[in-house]
Amino acid sequence: MNILVVGGGGREHAIIKKLRENERVETIYALPGNGGIAQDAVCTGIAATDLDGIAAFARENPVDFAVIAPDDPLVLGLADRLRGLGIPCFGPSAKAAAIEGSKVFAKDLMRKYGIPTARYQVFTSSAEALAYLETCPYPAVVKADGLALGKGVLICEDIAAARAAIASIMEEKIFGASGSRVVIEEFLTGPEVSVLAFTDGKTVVPMVSSMDHKRALDGDQGLNTGGMGTIAPNPYYTPAIAKRCMEEIFLPTIRAMNAEGRTFKGCLYFGLMLTADGPKVIEYNCRFGDPEAQVVLPLLKTDLLTIFQAVEEERLAEVPVEFSQECACCVMVVSGGYPAHYEKGKAISIVPSAGAIYYHSGTARRPDGALVTSGGRVIGATAVGDTLEAAIEKAYAAARGITFEGAYMRSDIGQRALRAKEG
Ligand code: AMP
Ligand code: GLY
Repeated sequence: MNILVVGGGGREHAIIKKLRENERVETIYALPGNGGIAQDAVCTGIAATDLDGIAAFARENPVDFAVIAPDDPLVLGLADRLRGLGIPCFGPSAKAAAIEGSKVFAKDLMRKYGIPTARYQVFTSSAEALAYLETCPYPAVVKADGLALGKGVLICEDIAAARAAIASIMEEKIFGASGSRVVIEEFLTGPEVSVLAFTDGKTVVPMVSSMDHKRALDGDQGLNTGGMGTIAPNPYYTPAIAKRCMEEIFLPTIRAMNAEGRTFKGCLYFGLMLTADGPKVIEYNCRFGDPEAQVVLPLLKTDLLTIFQAVEEERLAEVPVEFSQECACCVMVVSGGYPAHYEKGKAISIVPSAGAIYYHSGTARRPDGALVTSGGRVIGATAVGDTLEAAIEKAYAAARGITFEGAYMRSDIGQRALRAKEG
């Protein structure tokens, strides 16, 4: 079988490496791919948001199945387009991807169907939003409605910060059209858990839980990033909480999407906060998380292509999905300055570390074959171990072997999880 994988980051590299374990898989085309993916797939250079280019490529090449990993092509309707060409896909329709593409849609869905989430109000005019800020409790969370490269959420400690957030999102339009509507919501506290789930709209199969580290600096300080590292499983996510999440959040969400005529098929990502009041949804994503996929997929024992096909054919209930009991850790090695300004094109050297997996995020090959940086997040050094301590140690040993000018990593990925285990 020949498979097309849309995207070009660490998550896509993890998906591609997993698909490679299946002997039926012949060629994998990556659109666009990256410098590391090039060792496991044919990289095309076609951008993940170039829907016409992708459709043309899919018509001209023998493609049996497509996997759409990033949010933007899903929200733009790439899955519908490829299915329209007769190509089966892993990834939700545009109507279903709205669960990530519009925060207003997601919040209204949760309100309508009684799914626990932070209390909120929606505003389409900055005057009304500013008036509301006079009376709302602080901190307040201001969210741009649409996709904003993971940067559309601003936590505002006081009214001055909230006014500035409204001005930049709704007036200066720093996230473009994504800021024509905003959600202002209650600030929640508690440990965060990421749960990715396979679903075909009938059955929902949660994967092993994980914990992202979104802030740039140690101790959860600094700017929000796409994710500086992950561990799995998440020790806060106990079997009792998992049961509650299934009953109060996962199944109600799948049923709600069906009731709205937006059946979700693909990977649904539940960003949860475990509050004193029980688990609540912070956000939905219509895809695998990055770098959550980098710790969840190495622990998956079942063949990934078999699951993808079962999701597309709506027979997920027939596939027993199994995860290893081990732990995994992914440490992101990033370009100095990320997530603000950083330079690209730095030569990368890797001293291989036994048993580590290198998922490339922002790397490219120069014409002479040299590996160079091409993004903020560069490589996710990943390892699996019998214990979380062992996985963390192996991942850091691998990360320290990755060098380039300005390379940076957090030094405390997994430490909060270790403390939770002790506590
Ligand atoms: P998002 O871009 O939706 O992933 O949000 C980024 C981060 O903002 C989340 O991972 C949370 O840490 C934080 N956040 C979002 N909404 C809330 C909220 N209502 N209360 C507290 N923190 C939040
Ligand atoms: N790591 C968070 C995300 O993929 O949205």
